Amino acid sequence: MGQEKIRVAVVFGGRSTEHAVSCASAGLILSVIDRDRYEVLPIGIGTDGRWVLVSGDPARLALSSGSVPSVEAVAVPGSSITPVGGSSLQVTSPGSVPRDLGAVDVVLPLLHGAYGEDGTIQGLLEMTGTRYAGAGVLASAAGMDKEYMKLLLVARGLPVGPYVVVRDRDWRSAGERKRVLDEIAELGWPVFVKPARGGSSIGITRVVSPDGLEEAIEAARVHDPKVLVEAAVDGIEVECAVLEGLDGGPPEASVPGQVLVDPGSEFYDFQAKYLASAETMRIPAPVPAAAAAEIRRLACAVFDAISCEGLARVDFYYTTAGQVLVNEINTMPGMTPASGFPMMWAATGLPLPQLVDRIIQTALRKRPGLR
Ligand SMILES: Nc1ncnc2c1ncn2[C@@H]1O[C@H](COP(=O)(O)OP(=O)(O)O)[C@@H](O)[C@H]1O
Ligand SMILES: [Mg+2]
Repeated sequence: MGQEKIRVAVVFGGRSTEHAVSCASAGLILSVIDRDRYEVLPIGIGTDGRWVLVSGDPARLALSSGSVPSVEAVAVPGSSITPVGGSSLQVTSPGSVPRDLGAVDVVLPLLHGAYGEDGTIQGLLEMTGTRYAGAGVLASAAGMDKEYMKLLLVARGLPVGPYVVVRDRDWRSAGERKRVLDEIAELGWPVFVKPARGGSSIGITRVVSPDGLEEAIEAARVHDPKVLVEAAVDGIEVECAVLEGLDGGPPEASVPGQVLVDPGSEFYDFQAKYLASAETMRIPAPVPAAAAAEIRRLACAVFDAISCEGLARVDFYYTTAGQVLVNEINTMPGMTPASGFPMMWAATGLPLPQLVDRIIQTALRKRPGLR
């Protein structure tokens, strides 16, 4: 008799604008997870927020220019899942009495963006006493909101570029709007306008002069009533993957990689991130050894600044003047075949199956419930 398998619920999809990316992340993870060790329960969250059982066929979850994957497309028709107390999941198939799936040992919330990477599902799992991989409630929320992320980084003395926050209240009052627009003009041009709690570059515009500014703010406000405007940084984009340390040790950072933005894209937008055919990363990043060491050190410091757990990807700029600036932390980084996180760990000597194993094992060592 073999050992009993660990039950892992892989939760993906979700209500955010990054639904398709999450499906693609799940597609990759489901294709490598060790089925001898883990009993995998793939669970999709539809764009309407409903939880359903899905067909776990990884091939149907790939993201390419020809197909945008979705939970709806792979859902077991009419099935529904309700997380209930005591780490149990209740499954309802069409026309049947709800079936209790029993305890799940750990949830892998492969969700990006709102209702996934922002602390909300983490809170739900804590309420039900379920173990889960990755960042807790506070770290998820702090990593998601670019304003609070920057405030925490600055408080820890970490380098971030200048920015202005445009709040809903500012935007609605003519006087405040003028004050904010004046503040933005002082950043110089171009600027990047982005939703405070966005992701995958959705809703982001590069603005070269005051003319396009208000329109760009409106475009970002479609995704979030709070908007950030940042001075454009001149340089290359370098990412670094981080894992929580083993046995309570300090976090570990991967070899940094450079993001190669498709020449057809103005910046690292959605098209360039997921749909461009060209190579997406150069690993190791072509920066001096001292800068690479600094990036690895800062990546761990950023991870700790928000009390992150499990895993994260920290994104930087290496400026033309040779300065390292933090762009952001992603507490549930993309895991698609084009994503930096798995590629950088592979280049650091941790291939994807072991990486997934480490993330799950780290989570299993924690107590369920409040972190
Ligand atoms: N201040 C900036 N200077 C230069 N490029 C930027 C700046 N802000 C954003 N970008 C470009 O837009 C991309 C997405 O911005 P980011 O803040 O990382 O948002 P997201 O959370 O959507 O990934 C970056 O990877 C970069 O290409
Ligand atoms: Mg980013």
